Amino acid sequence: MPGHTSESLTSDIRLREVTDDDLPILFEHQRDPEANQMAAFPARDRDAFMAHWAKIRGDVALTTRTILLDGQVVGNIGSWEHDGKRLVSYWLGKSYWGRGVATRALSALLGVVKARPLYAHVAKHNIGSIRVLEKCGFTMCLEETESLDPPSDGVEELVFKLGPTEDGEAH
Ligand SMILES: CC(C)(COP(=O)(O)OP(=O)(O)OC[C@H]1O[C@@H](n2cnc3c(N)ncnc32)[C@H](O)[C@@H]1OP(=O)(O)O)[C@@H](O)C(=O)NCCC(=O)NCCS
Repeated sequence: MPGHTSESLTSDIRLREVTDDDLPILFEHQRDPEANQMAAFPARDRDAFMAHWAKIRGDVALTTRTILLDGQVVGNIGSWEHDGKRLVSYWLGKSYWGRGVATRALSALLGVVKARPLYAHVAKHNIGSIRVLEKCGFTMCLEETESLDPPSDGVEELVFKLGPTEDGEAH
């Protein structure tokens, strides 16, 4: 993975609510085979994808955002609660990888989603995503990782966690 270009430092990353027009673009992003392998997450077919997004966009307990790079839709990021834990995840179109977009999008989300602790489940082989989490202050949580069920598909997962520290500050 090449280092970030100067373009990644000057380009504008924004998060906004997901619109209907974003969905066909996000649909293509989530069915890229390399991304599916990286995230260890299968593609949804069009009907399943649309049904999933209708459900999550209608749920006020979730935060979902489209990621814009210089005004262009390049991915999505979100946060939701599962088993009493607030999780985050993100997904970019492949042509936008390696420019610091996910790191900046997650940093921006941390200003929108104020709850702490935050967790992320990541496939052990997903080095890029692990770096994104570490750069945003998440650390691997051994206790949570060890409490996961053994993987049915052979893909080991790690759990990363962000704050709070003992003095109540997120780090
Ligand atoms: C994982 C993903 C979000 C990374 O997005 P990105 O915008 O390319 O990440 P960034 O450019 O912010 O990179 C952050 C760091 O990770 C490194 N990195 C990114 N992808 C990498 C890869 N495939 N292999 C090794 N390092 C990688 C970058 O070099 C950078 O490190 P550095 O600053 O120390 O040089 C993106 O590849 C993606 O959407 N993948 C498919 C979906 C997915 O895996 N989602 C996460 C599920 S947990």
